[in-house]
Amino acid sequence: MIVLVGANGYVGRYFQAFFEHKNLLWKPFDWQLFLSENRNDLVNQLRASKATFLVNCAGYTGKPNVDACELNKAECLNGNVVLSRLIREICERIDLRWGHVSSGCIFSGERNKGEGWQEDDVPNFSFRRPPCSFYSGTKALAEEALGWRESRASADDLASWKHESEPSGYVWRLRIPFDQSNNPRNYLFKLQNYDSLLEARNSLSQLSEFVSACWQCVERKAPFGIYNVTNPGSVTTSEVVGMIQKMGVSQKSFNFFDSEDAFMKKVAKTPRSNCVLDTSKLESLGILMRPVHDAIEWSLKNWKK
Ligand SMILES: NC(=O)c1ccc[n+]([C@@H]2O[C@H](COP(=O)([O-])OP(=O)(O)OC[C@H]3O[C@@H](n4cnc5c(N)ncnc54)[C@H](OP(=O)(O)O)[C@@H]3O)[C@@H](O)[C@H]2O)c1
Repeated sequence: MIVLVGANGYVGRYFQAFFEHKNLLWKPFDWQLFLSENRNDLVNQLRASKATFLVNCAGYTGKPNVDACELNKAECLNGNVVLSRLIREICERIDLRWGHVSSGCIFSGERNKGEGWQEDDVPNFSFRRPPCSFYSGTKALAEEALGWRESRASADDLASWKHESEPSGYVWRLRIPFDQSNNPRNYLFKLQNYDSLLEARNSLSQLSEFVSACWQCVERKAPFGIYNVTNPGSVTTSEVVGMIQKMGVSQKSFNFFDSEDAFMKKVAKTPRSNCVLDTSKLESLGILMRPVHDAIEWSLKNWKK
């Protein structure tokens, strides 16, 4: 039995659909139970449900966007950091393996020109390495709550992001999810509805491919640890907009902000992460996602109005 925490969110619903499609037994578990005082009761419920794996898609994401996290810091910290830590502790107590949906938004920019950030790079858009948004800060701190630390083998070495002992589950980094639906959470839909866009280069994750790749880690018994689960490559906002127009999904003429400063002054309360992630760790396991341009084209070709 797979336990799904955060089953009713944007990402959780994709896990639900995937498990149904694969005829895998799953059960939703309310994230609030993990924050309750009565741990023994929760442990008994998990044992009684014969849980074999736990997927955590719960988190405080901020509505309508991450700016809301700046106003609701306690909730954001609790939902992203404290909850993740409690889930890990409870799972370790009953020897239950887990997968946690993290985010690529703990990085900014590219590693070197054209190269993506790797799993053992230290997050550079975090409370420890500001600037960052409060949301991104909590997502990086959640990875610390799950056991990762900035460490150096010697004073001369570059810092790397290492687990304090042995990870007991997976950290799957999702980045700007998209699909083929008119869902306000879908990046391809969001772009069509903003008044002005910020030009930036990013890695993205096609949601059904993301979920399938995460589950392949479990099925193939991949080593526990962090995985960047994004479609290989990167894409700019103007490239995506060009594809939306070319595929006939929208003929709107899109406006762009002159600069990131103009974006910050006019619409945002906190800086946004724009970053490229490296996917070679996942690929080295034979878990392949389509190149990002192909995945976008597929979603636009199969667009559901
Ligand atoms: N969507 C993105 O752009 C994106 C990108 C990268 C990573 N992620 C990560 O992916 C995970 C799922 O995101 P999502 O887009 O599916 O979010 P979502 O649609 O906002 O769903 C969030 C889920 O978390 C639960 N939740 C609500 N308030 C919470 C709180 N205060 N503390 C803990 N959980 C709470 C919700 O449960 P109820 O149904 O009970 O309200 C819901 O199941 C999150 O960890 C998020 O940080 C998302």
